Amino acid sequence: MQLTREQISSLCEQALAMREKAYVPYSRFAVGAGLMTEDGKIYGGCNIENLSFGATNCAERTAIFKAVSEGSTVLRALAIAGGAAGTEPDDYCAPCGICRQVMTEFAGEEFEIFLVRSANDWQRYTMDEILPLQFKQWKVRNKQ
Ligand code: THU
Repeated sequence: MQLTREQISSLCEQALAMREKAYVPYSRFAVGAGLMTEDGKIYGGCNIENLSFGATNCAERTAIFKAVSEGSTVLRALAIAGGAAGTEPDDYCAPCGICRQVMTEFAGEEFEIFLVRSANDWQRYTMDEILPLQFKQWKVRNKQ
């Protein structure tokens, strides 16, 4: 079922609000995510950095891991907002490659990604647009 404008705006608002929770002492680049799962639940995420830089977790994966660990394993929509901490985003923040791969693991049939500048200024993408030529053979075989 199609998302309403209100549902999209509210996911965008959540992504924007979650930026305030970002733990970003090193990059000062705050990212927030608003996630809706197919069972209708909403989860938020922010990036969480670490002095050992490789241990940093992106906002998108924070939200997805929260959902999966609570039993919501099929994703319906993910809104992402990022920019310099303490300022409004001045561009659309696209997800990193690792997050794109994690999204494919849990993306439902209708999964959509929203890159957010404000609640009313966003771009919409499908999973195939965000990550073309996905490796899915193994996934399909596992489901047989
Ligand atoms: N970051 C995210 O949270 N999501 C992305 O998809 C790209 C990068 C974070 C990681 C790091 O804390 C900061 O942005 C700068 O790279």
